[in-house]
Amino acid sequence: MKGIILAGGKGSRLYPMTLSVSKQLLPIYDKPMIYYPLSTLIKCGIKEILIISTTDDLPIFKRLLGDGSQWGCSFCYESQNFPKGLADAFIVGDEFIGNSNVTLILGDNFFFGGNFENEIISRKYLKGGFIFALRVSNPKRYGVIEFDNDFNAVGIEEKPKRPKSPYAVPGIYCYDSSVVSKAKSLNFSERGELEISDINKAFLNDTNLEVKVLNENTIWLDTGTVDSLMKANHFVETLQKRKGILVGSPELSAFQSNFITKETLLILVESMAESKYGKFLKSNL
Ligand code: TTP
Repeated sequence: MKGIILAGGKGSRLYPMTLSVSKQLLPIYDKPMIYYPLSTLIKCGIKEILIISTTDDLPIFKRLLGDGSQWGCSFCYESQNFPKGLADAFIVGDEFIGNSNVTLILGDNFFFGGNFENEIISRKYLKGGFIFALRVSNPKRYGVIEFDNDFNAVGIEEKPKRPKSPYAVPGIYCYDSSVVSKAKSLNFSERGELEISDINKAFLNDTNLEVKVLNENTIWLDTGTVDSLMKANHFVETLQKRKGILVGSPELSAFQSNFITKETLLILVESMAESKYGKFLKSNL
């Protein structure tokens, strides 16, 4: 299983904060936003990761994340010239994906709790598509899944005016390599994007889409608005300060996934010993 982090886009809902800085470089509490989806992929046991962003922002991501070897990973980078939609990740990532399975995570999505990483680990040899469904109070903002009486997924709609269920699809999706040809055959939607919901519909129509309903222990925040960004900041602060749980740490996740040894982790920690993040990381060892 390979991974893709989609970290481009316009970030227009966060203007003027994102006029000159990529949204995924903004801080969530004590670390850059992209650390959170990156740590999620690492916890899913994924080492080979493609980071997609705009041509302007890619050099900054490269400076921040490097080639990934410090965390026992291998990172590569591709630019998306224009924000054509989430499904464009599989066209930009065509060569990177090759014949592998792939997990796409959105660069502004924050996940915590539940057991969803193990669900992804156990789908390493997936055939078809595998997505999650999570009950939300505002489904209109997302891709929404319709279920029949036996809780089988029977339909998916992107940002419906009248949602057929309260179950949204969170921003982490797993597919086999046929996702590339499916993405290439998509048409642009009315809002001018290649929609991930259309990819999911294509797998559903082939009766090849597994949908796993996540329990309420899973926290999912899309940090693309000022309010949700603030919420994520407070949530991480509460977890770290009150509960002593470090989240969004690629170093710790890499160690927990056995990508790096304790010795390497200690060296990484020492290099950041002066920062609050480094100190907290050290106290978690
Ligand atoms: P969105 O939040 O839907 O879009 P955006 O980041 O452009 O924000 P806004 O609506 O405020 O203008 O995107 C979800 C994630 O996917 C986010 O991390 C940006 C990324 N993205 C791309 O990298 N390329 C794209 O073409 C799109 C649509 C999004």
